[in-house]
Amino acid sequence: MSRIAYVNGRYLPRAEAKVAVEDRGYQFADGVYEVCEVKGGRPVDERRHMARLDRSLKELRIARPMSPAALSVVLRETIRRNRVTDGIVYLQVTRGVAPRDFPFPGNGTRPSLVVTARNYDPARLEQQAAEGIAVVTVPDIRWQRVDIKTVALLPNVLAKQAARDQGAREAWLVDAQGRVTEGASSNAWIITRDGKLITRGLGQDILSGITRSVVIDLVRAQGLAFEERAFTVEEAYAAREAFVTSASQIVLPVVRIDGRPIGNGAPGLIASALRRDYHRYAEIG
Ligand code: PDD
Repeated sequence: MSRIAYVNGRYLPRAEAKVAVEDRGYQFADGVYEVCEVKGGRPVDERRHMARLDRSLKELRIARPMSPAALSVVLRETIRRNRVTDGIVYLQVTRGVAPRDFPFPGNGTRPSLVVTARNYDPARLEQQAAEGIAVVTVPDIRWQRVDIKTVALLPNVLAKQAARDQGAREAWLVDAQGRVTEGASSNAWIITRDGKLITRGLGQDILSGITRSVVIDLVRAQGLAFEERAFTVEEAYAAREAFVTSASQIVLPVVRIDGRPIGNGAPGLIASALRRDYHRYAEIG
């Protein structure tokens, strides 16, 4: 749990860390966020996360809360003050505080910035990776710009709860054509019977995952067969392996989809190797 939070210029104990009731993030989900892995006390893939943050802000015409160099200092200071060695750092930028009205507020409104950080439970993560996770499929009912990493995550919350209700850890979201878009908080991958890695191509219908992009670098460097395209739920059921990627989970093998075992029902060799090798390709700052 984050003990100290950075809130608009101050580092505060959690109990005192508060945002205004008229913050547009609270009222309209008018804001964006990033989650970065922390390893050895340092942020992982920070440059790619900051580039994606910049893009999300530009798409929504929210001003940068501070320069990239200053933001980098705040991230590191929040990691340090929370004594995070291996965990995550979370940052959220909203359009700021203004009387509730739908159009953007005037130019005087400053964006709000909150940063928190916490350690993982390493034993729990390793157990998950060793056992693999179950996934359930649910219809993708999100808006049409999920390439922007906004805090408007209600459909993802409902999908995740549907997974939990069925004893699974992740939900795979399925488009109107029966093809998987991505996970509720991860990108979705399969490996076909003939050994080809497949993940959906980038567009407005998935988040451009940072972990996904690093895994693609790794897959290419290792010369593995790889195709960026949508795959159906039926193809996923028939896959040799499946896995998800995200900053908080890195590569996590999927061993069951909708109750059906994937491959032999145990974490796959390729997914496990990608998990093991990931940090040799990631940038640890
Ligand atoms: N989730 N797709 C969705 C919908 C996500 O929410 C995430 C990340 C990803 C993976 O992106 P990345 O590899 O950059 O973490 C894909 C974060 C971890 C979260 O909301 O906690």
